[in-house]
Amino acid sequence: MSYITSPAFEKKGYVVLDAYDQAADPQEWLNLQYVDWKSSGDTRWAPLASAFGEMECNGFWNHTPPRTDKDGVWVQANVDKAPILKARAEEPGANVGRCRVIELQPNDYAGAIYNLHQDDNNRLNPDGTGWIVRSFFNLSDDPDSVLILREDRFDPETEVRIPLPAGSQVVVDTQRFWHAVWHTGPAPRYSLISSWTSGPELDAYVQKYHGAPQAANPPLDQAVIDDAQFQMKRRLAERAATLAAQGKKDHAPKDPEA
Ligand SMILES: [Fe+2]
Repeated sequence: MSYITSPAFEKKGYVVLDAYDQAADPQEWLNLQYVDWKSSGDTRWAPLASAFGEMECNGFWNHTPPRTDKDGVWVQANVDKAPILKARAEEPGANVGRCRVIELQPNDYAGAIYNLHQDDNNRLNPDGTGWIVRSFFNLSDDPDSVLILREDRFDPETEVRIPLPAGSQVVVDTQRFWHAVWHTGPAPRYSLISSWTSGPELDAYVQKYHGAPQAANPPLDQAVIDDAQFQMKRRLAERAATLAAQGKKDHAPKDPEA
């Protein structure tokens, strides 16, 4: 398979862009219509673009006809309330697939590690076209919360932790990384998540906002990491045993956001 990819992601697989002045904008996300859609924790989602412009969040491949995560249709009732969020998703000029605001309730590090998953953005993506990546724009101010990325799901040495103050902007190859958010709370976290197609438009946008990997992780106590590793393995073993008892196979989580 030979997709069009962005050189900015080649080495590290993600870029942090210049921070956005979030405080200057109205809090459009508080007026959106959310749908119950459980994924990677206690969540609700407000679709801004969906497969056919309906108020729903399902993967485009679960519709008829099934297709990849491109050519999202704006959900009128929500974009009417969030013209700035829509404009931010459209700013690169890259193709937009799914575009949603996530509302995530507080969790803990061990819970986030258990929820690590890879996305499946490029399912049905035709060979030779642009590789689909995802942007995460933090809307609420959560400087103590982090987006966790791991190249290897079980290896904390591969972990990247990106702080999420209001206005933080990260673009990630979420099919490459195991990822989840550790949100310390106390209020829910809101983030605009868009599927973008790689190509010259996205390259120019990343360059304009000085996209680059972060210099260093915020510190985290080794005992906290060790405990989370232990809990993750225990919970996964419990899940596998439960499924085996039911005669079912256990699958690694793939795009629970789908
Ligand atoms: Fe994801």
